[in-house]
Amino acid sequence: MKFFVDTAEIDAITELNDLGMVDGVTTNPSLIMKSGRDIIEVTKEICELISGPVSAEVVATDAKNMIAEGRKLAKIASNIAVKLPLTWDGLKACKVLSDEGKMINVTLCFSANQALLAAKAGATFISPFIGRLDDVNLDGMDLINEIRQIYDNFGYETQILAASIRTVNHVTQSALIGADVITAPPSVIKSLIDHPLTDRGLDQFMADWAKTGQKIL
Ligand code: G3P
Repeated sequence: MKFFVDTAEIDAITELNDLGMVDGVTTNPSLIMKSGRDIIEVTKEICELISGPVSAEVVATDAKNMIAEGRKLAKIASNIAVKLPLTWDGLKACKVLSDEGKMINVTLCFSANQALLAAKAGATFISPFIGRLDDVNLDGMDLINEIRQIYDNFGYETQILAASIRTVNHVTQSALIGADVITAPPSVIKSLIDHPLTDRGLDQFMADWAKTGQKIL
């Protein structure tokens, strides 16, 4: 399973990339706002750092301007995935831009039918938002399951990019279901390593080692 990091913070991307944990990056207008950076400048910097797909989202809401913005964003680097919202205009832009050979990430997906439409429009990635479904007392993982089954039934190559991941359990469940990619904030990716028994076991080994009086180096 691929790990994308859901941030526009260069330091956080660099830290995880140095550990080999970054297969791509996703951004959105809220993350660009949080970074305080210019969208073109920061996206270019991320693309220079990461060779995998870097999602950059359009902000127009009509197909004509989405296509124009998508073409401009795609010029930043060859690894840009143009991110488009799951509306009819977004799908129209998806069809045009994917026919031009651009990678497309269709975002704000909250139903299996929406995911089906995105696959038919040629999306490279579909981004179902798990956490935001949980927020309204639905189960975001059910949606990942449904999309996996539908895409497998018909052999759609659109990759399931599990998004709006808030917990380490979302990552485990996405991996078990077979989502192709997860995108998560750096804090969640860093939390994946946590286990109290690892900490306790290491403390015990270190205490016993100290009693031997030996050194390896
Ligand atoms: O990739 C989409 C993601 O950024 C949304 O996450 O936590 O704002 O629902 P969240």
